[in-house]
Amino acid sequence: MASGGTPLFIFTALCVTAVKNFVKVECNTINVGHYGQQSLLECVVKTSTDVKDPTIRMVAWKKLTSPEDEGDPVLGFNRWKLDRPKRGYRFAEPSWDKKNMNVSLLITNTAVADDGDYKCMVITDSGDGSTVTNLTVQAKYSISTLYSIPEKIVPNTDSTLVCESRGGYPQGTIRWFVEEKHDWTGSSEMEAKQSDDGLFQLTSRLSLSRGSTFSKYTCAVFNASGGKENEKTFEMPPPPSSQGGIVYDTKISKIVLPLVVIGSLIVCGLLIYGWRSRGEYMLLVSYLMDYTSLNILSSSFRN
Ligand SMILES: *[C@@H]1O[C@H](CO)[C@@H](O)[C@H](O)[C@H]1NC(C)=O
Ligand SMILES: *[C@@H]1O[C@H](CO)[C@@H](O)[C@H](O)[C@H]1NC(C)=O
Ligand SMILES: *[C@@H]1O[C@H](CO)[C@@H](O)[C@H](O)[C@H]1NC(C)=O
Repeated sequence: MASGGTPLFIFTALCVTAVKNFVKVECNTINVGHYGQQSLLECVVKTSTDVKDPTIRMVAWKKLTSPEDEGDPVLGFNRWKLDRPKRGYRFAEPSWDKKNMNVSLLITNTAVADDGDYKCMVITDSGDGSTVTNLTVQAKYSISTLYSIPEKIVPNTDSTLVCESRGGYPQGTIRWFVEEKHDWTGSSEMEAKQSDDGLFQLTSRLSLSRGSTFSKYTCAVFNASGGKENEKTFEMPPPPSSQGGIVYDTKISKIVLPLVVIGSLIVCGLLIYGWRSRGEYMLLVSYLMDYTSLNILSSSFRN
C-alpha cells in the first residue's frame, strides 16, 4: 500500500519545513497615540531558532484606508537603502539597519489623520511575514467658554447657558449638572463640528426657563469612553434680595405713616373744634409738622 503512504509523507514533510523556517512580524495589538506627541507602533521580526543571523531585505510600512486596500507607504527600506520616508515617520530605533529585528514605526507628531490601521511587511533572507496593527489617536477636551445669553441674566425671563469645548478626539459629549449632582442634560442640545485638523468642537446650549431657581450649573465634557476630562461651573447671580425690599418698605412707612396721622388729626380737629379756636389748633398742627419733617430727614440720612 505504497500509494497511501506517499501523500502522508509529503504532508508531514511540508509541515516540518513550514515550522522549521518561519518569519513572523509581531506587533502590539493596541497602540494609543496622543495628538501632537510621539506615537510608537511596536513591531518585531521573529524567526525560528534555526535561522542564524537573519538579514532584512525589505520593510514596508503602509497606512491602510480600508482593510483590503494597497495602502499609502509611510516608511520603507529596500535592499540597501531607506526609501525617502513620508515626513514625520521613521524607524523607532535611532540607527536602524538590516540586522535590527525591531522594525517599530515612530510617528513624531501624531495627527488625527494617523488614526487607523497600518500594515508592516518584512522580507528577510529566510522568509517573509506581514501584520496589520492599529493606532488609536486621542486628544483631550477642555472647556474654552461658558457664558449666558443674555450676558446679564434678568430674573423671571428665559435665558440660555452656552458651553464650548474644543480640541478633543474622538467625538465626546457635554453633560450638564445642577447643584453639582442632578443630571440636567435633557434640557440641552449639543452640536459637534470637526475642524480641518480633525479635532472636535462641541457646543451645548442649556435652556433655562424663567422659573429656574438653581444657583449653580456645571458643564462637564466627557471623552468617547465616558471619562470626564474637564468641567466648569456657572454661578447664577443672586436673586434681588428680599431683605432689601423690607428696608425699602420701612423707609416708606416712616414717611407715609406720620403724614396719614397728621392728615387725620387735621380732619378730626376741624370736625371737633370747627372754626372756633383756629389759632390754637394751627399751632398744634405746625408742631406736629415740624416733628414729622425732622423724622423724615433723619430717616433719609440713615438710609
Ligand atoms: C523597539 O525599539 C523601540 C525604540 O527604540 C523601543 O521603545 C522598544 O521597546 C523596542 N521593542 C523591542 C521589543 O525591543
Ligand atoms: C483597531 O482598533 C479598533 C478599536 O480599538 C478595533 O475595533 C479593531 O479591530 C482594530 N483593528 C485591528 C486590525 O487590530
Ligand atoms: C477617557 O478618559 C479616561 C479617564 O481619564 C482615560 O482613561 C481614557 O483613555 C480616555 N479615553 C479616550 C478615548 O480619550
